[in-house]
Amino acid sequence: MKIKKAEFIKGATTPEGFIKNPGGQAQIAFSGRSNVGKSSLINTIVGRKKLARTSSTPGRTREINFFNINDALIFVDLPGYGYAKVPKEMRKSWRPMVDKYLAGNDDLKLVIVIVDIRRGPEEEELSFLMWLKENGIPALVVTTKSDKEKRGKIAKRVADIAKTLQCSPDMIVTFSSTTGMGKDKLWSKIREIVGV
Ligand code: GTP
Ligand code: MG
Repeated sequence: MKIKKAEFIKGATTPEGFIKNPGGQAQIAFSGRSNVGKSSLINTIVGRKKLARTSSTPGRTREINFFNINDALIFVDLPGYGYAKVPKEMRKSWRPMVDKYLAGNDDLKLVIVIVDIRRGPEEEELSFLMWLKENGIPALVVTTKSDKEKRGKIAKRVADIAKTLQCSPDMIVTFSSTTGMGKDKLWSKIREIVGV
């Protein structure tokens, strides 16, 4: 997709701050562990280096950040979960906020679940994907940091991840923000699912 506009709308820390469908745009949320590369992935697929703030320190994204993409889509950068070094209090406040964002959100048309190709998914990702399925929310799995995995091992890793997540390998996009690997494939899947 040609990106003509990509702008930060706002960051929300409470449900009152969530964006409510201003012009009928579909919302696409990006979810995954702290430091997995959610914000980097957003920047890579829109081709803007500094749209979403990234950091080598886990827990950088502490709000739910909304971005306007071409006035057609809203990208939603969720705070990461599961990182031990993020203070407990903070994790405790994020979880209910993210749950409130996800539950009963008619504008949410797709959740992109991001996993580190070397680490793979764990129980959290599996139960999240099951929850999304039960709630009729389409999901895609993206393995990021694929530049760090040996080329010859990628297919095997993807097959293992599909097995753990009980999904088809077709649902998984192999991606890297460093090299841009998977960018076109991810966009075509997004467009197919969301219909833009
Ligand atoms: P939180 O907001 O803290 O949950 O993190 P995040 O998931 O948004 O991760 P972020 O995009 O900030 O990236 C975390 C670190 O991983 C940064 O140092 C990035 O440069 C690095 N990183 C992200 N994607 C890739 C990738 O595809 N390959 C490599 N090699 N590094 C990456
Ligand atoms: Mg982030």
